[in-house]
Amino acid sequence: MTADNKHAIEFNQVRISYPGARDYALRIDKLSVNCADFVAVIGPSGAGKSTFLRSINGLIPHQQGELRVFGQSYRQRDLVRLRQQVSMVFQNFNLSPRMSVLDNVLIGRLAQKKGMLKALARFNDEDREIAFLALQKVGMLSYALRDIRQLSGGQKQRVAIARCLAQQAKIILADEPVASLDPINARRIIELLKELNQEQHITVLVNLHQVELVEKYFSSVIGLKHGRLEFHQDSQQQTITKDWNRIYG
Ligand SMILES: Nc1ncnc2c1ncn2[C@@H]1O[C@H](COP(=O)(O)OP(=O)(O)OP(=O)(O)O)[C@@H](O)[C@H]1O
Ligand SMILES: [Mg+2]
Repeated sequence: MTADNKHAIEFNQVRISYPGARDYALRIDKLSVNCADFVAVIGPSGAGKSTFLRSINGLIPHQQGELRVFGQSYRQRDLVRLRQQVSMVFQNFNLSPRMSVLDNVLIGRLAQKKGMLKALARFNDEDREIAFLALQKVGMLSYALRDIRQLSGGQKQRVAIARCLAQQAKIILADEPVASLDPINARRIIELLKELNQEQHITVLVNLHQVELVEKYFSSVIGLKHGRLEFHQDSQQQTITKDWNRIYG
């Protein structure tokens, strides 16, 4: 990161529409997320939260405007490099059920490989060491050789987060990562993400609907409504005024 590049993510006049749709699913004129920020993305169903997150890692292309990641325009960089830096966590965990916990985490290493090594999914001792450290970090080391199907929802989400760590991602995008968890596990997962943010300075953006979690853990909030940015409060602002009514009212 250079002095003039304190932003992890920048949107400038970005427009995204899905094929056949009349309206833009996302329409953001100006928005920047600081490096190492811990951000909640809120808004009612259909507001564009998933579209927003998926556009940041290139899963959904933008038709207009400019989207920058660590100062580089999306169009200047190749997707492979983008995906090395950005990792996603999903509500349904997105793990391979037929593989072990360790193998699922090793998949995160593929983002750092090229050519045949990637095609053949060849892992070396360094990859395995990184994967074990990631599992240790999320408290799942003793489950390394277990089958994914034997894990609870909270444990699966920890493995999904370990995969992001194995990838050595600098940005984690989590799309409703706690929507299918009970309140205690939901809190633990948000606490884990916050710990990674604080210790490893990973920029984390989390879509979520649970207002109480937003209140408790997030000082930065992006509010979306009808595909537009309704408000953005970043962590450097002194006063915290999470304006729920503007979003959900
Ligand atoms: N694959 C798609 N094809 C067409 N339209 C889509 C597609 N995905 C989303 N949309 C539309 O884009 C808009 C934004 O959807 P998005 O999934 O981003 O909302 P969301 O805020 O994540 O909602 P939720 O809280 O229900 O997950 C909605 O109007 C939705 O119907
Ligand atoms: Mg969504």
